[in-house]
Amino acid sequence: MSESLLIDVNASKEEKYKALIPQINALVDGEEDVVANLANVTAALKEAFGYFWIGFYVVKNGELVLGPFQGPIACTRIQKGKGVCGSVWADAKTIVVPDVEAFPGHIACSSASKSEIVVPAFKNNEVALVLDIDSDELNTFDEIDQKYLEELMKTVSEFL
Ligand code: SME
Repeated sequence: MSESLLIDVNASKEEKYKALIPQINALVDGEEDVVANLANVTAALKEAFGYFWIGFYVVKNGELVLGPFQGPIACTRIQKGKGVCGSVWADAKTIVVPDVEAFPGHIACSSASKSEIVVPAFKNNEVALVLDIDSDELNTFDEIDQKYLEELMKTVSEFL
């Protein structure tokens, strides 16, 4: 395993995803510990994009529970259907939120968070966890993030 990621800081967002995803695949390949892999996925995304908060919420005993993340401390438990994360769990589909204040029921773990994207990963056709990425700027995420993060969550699904 390489000791550092190779990411061109001046590259476009799409180019960064294209460079990053194969490196994440290599990083988790052959490692079966789920927490270790989830932790490295958040670290790799943080290093490549520098977003304010990047982390996983894992489905456990009927709730979402905070998993590995990079960023400030966050809410530990989220109920199904609540907030963006709970809605993604309930609907089993990615949600892109350009302005968190315009999302009814958004859970503000930090007032610095302005926009967000939440993407599910599946095990046995059910949502097993969600990846939540928060930005401290409005309108950060779009269909490019959705496309590549959904691709990344296929890798994650494989090691769950
Ligand atoms: N904003 C999320 C809660 C998680 S924090 O942002 C880290 C939500 O509405 O589900």
